[in-house]
Amino acid sequence: MENTNKDKTKEINQRGRGNIALLGFMGSGKTTIGQQLAQKVGWQFMDTDDLIEEKTSLSISLIFERWGEEHFRSLEKVVLEEVASKKNIILATGGGLPAQEDNWQILREHFLTIFLQVDFSILYQRIKGDSRRPLLSQYSTPQELEKLYQKRLIYYERSDVIINGNRSEEEIVEEILYHEKISSLWRKR
Ligand code: S3P
Repeated sequence: MENTNKDKTKEINQRGRGNIALLGFMGSGKTTIGQQLAQKVGWQFMDTDDLIEEKTSLSISLIFERWGEEHFRSLEKVVLEEVASKKNIILATGGGLPAQEDNWQILREHFLTIFLQVDFSILYQRIKGDSRRPLLSQYSTPQELEKLYQKRLIYYERSDVIINGNRSEEEIVEEILYHEKISSLWRKR
């Protein structure tokens, strides 16, 4: 078991990916954790939703309303490609980004991926009634939303590292900072 972990660490380092992508469902803390992490290690923080809003000068809700989800997904891919060309970025990704197969080629090549795994019951308490998240009106019952969460888990679980996000922000940031598969990235600057 220990050898397998060491081998994977070596493999990640050899691939030389210079960015980190935080993956997870809505409400899993990608933005807050990402911002804190970036501040601690002196990397730049970015968020795919913010980049899309800047690019279009529209809110995510308005983009869904005017152009639909499919168009939003293509914008998501464009901003992911743009970030991939940079180095030392900590990227918070939208909850649906890893569920688009095309995006995985870019994620694998340019990012070390970290899944913030948070129990659905906690996520639901955090996100319910949030009008800035258009998918919540499409998946309007907790059961429907949980189905979406279950469908996405298989994608999130492809990540290089899975972090238990059912803890305090401080504990999560600390674990990522010193994680054996991640900490070598900070030293490589
Ligand atoms: C979405 C998640 C949102 C945002 C958009 C769609 C999704 O981001 O990208 O509303 O498909 O799960 P967060 O995960 O940051 O809420």
